[in-house]
Amino acid sequence: MSRRMLVAGNWKMFTTSGEGVILIQDLTGLVRDCWDEVEVAVCPPFTGLKAASTVIEIDGLSIALGAQDMHWEAEGAFTGAVAPRMLTDLRCNYVIVGHSERREYFGETNETVNNKVRAVFGAGMVPIMCVGESLATREALETESFVRNQVMEGAAGLDSAQASKLVVAYEPIWAIGTGRTPTPEAANDVCRSIRATIGAMYGPPAATSVRVLYGGSVKPENAKMFFDEPDVDGALVGGAALKADSFAGIVKAAL
Ligand code: PGA
Repeated sequence: MSRRMLVAGNWKMFTTSGEGVILIQDLTGLVRDCWDEVEVAVCPPFTGLKAASTVIEIDGLSIALGAQDMHWEAEGAFTGAVAPRMLTDLRCNYVIVGHSERREYFGETNETVNNKVRAVFGAGMVPIMCVGESLATREALETESFVRNQVMEGAAGLDSAQASKLVVAYEPIWAIGTGRTPTPEAANDVCRSIRATIGAMYGPPAATSVRVLYGGSVKPENAKMFFDEPDVDGALVGGAALKADSFAGIVKAAL
């Protein structure tokens, strides 16, 4: 079974809603020929979701929409938080969960990640669950066991249909925004191990279907090297997703 490549742009805390609309329109002109073959997603800040959703719908674009976070409760007194149905209401398809910046600056744990992963599925969306090791963990040669534990705890309690739809983004923390990357082979080793972990939890069909993305300093110049690896099913892109031409170059590398 061949998995559909997914290239998702994580805009982090960079775009106003107007800037997001322009970015989507510029991107559309460049990737329109690709989106039958490669799934393209953009993940604006919460404040940009409504405008992005509207331009995607009105212009009939085959671009998926993702949020960068979500609370797991259906509603409640959680000032500043956003609930699942607020995102489905805006036709979000994906939610990034457990990005290393959320873990580092907002105290997310594997337990909160798991609450969110299950709530995203519960609302009918698909989580892009981020995992990845620090430089200290890598230098201690503990990357695979660390990431395996993140996957086991973060993706616990799903049913096998959900596990098959899951997207896991392997993002070594030391590669995010730094210009440094692992070799494609080293990235593939961790992606393969993530797939095997999902297989051990949910069975071989889930292992075959789960999509594992690489993230961390992906650019048009290096994307194809990662995409050529057998266990890499696309990319989660930060900095290079903020310019239409560089993001489009990454999408084209996935063809
Ligand atoms: P980067 O970020 O592409 O700027 O390294 C990736 C990410 O944080 O998802």
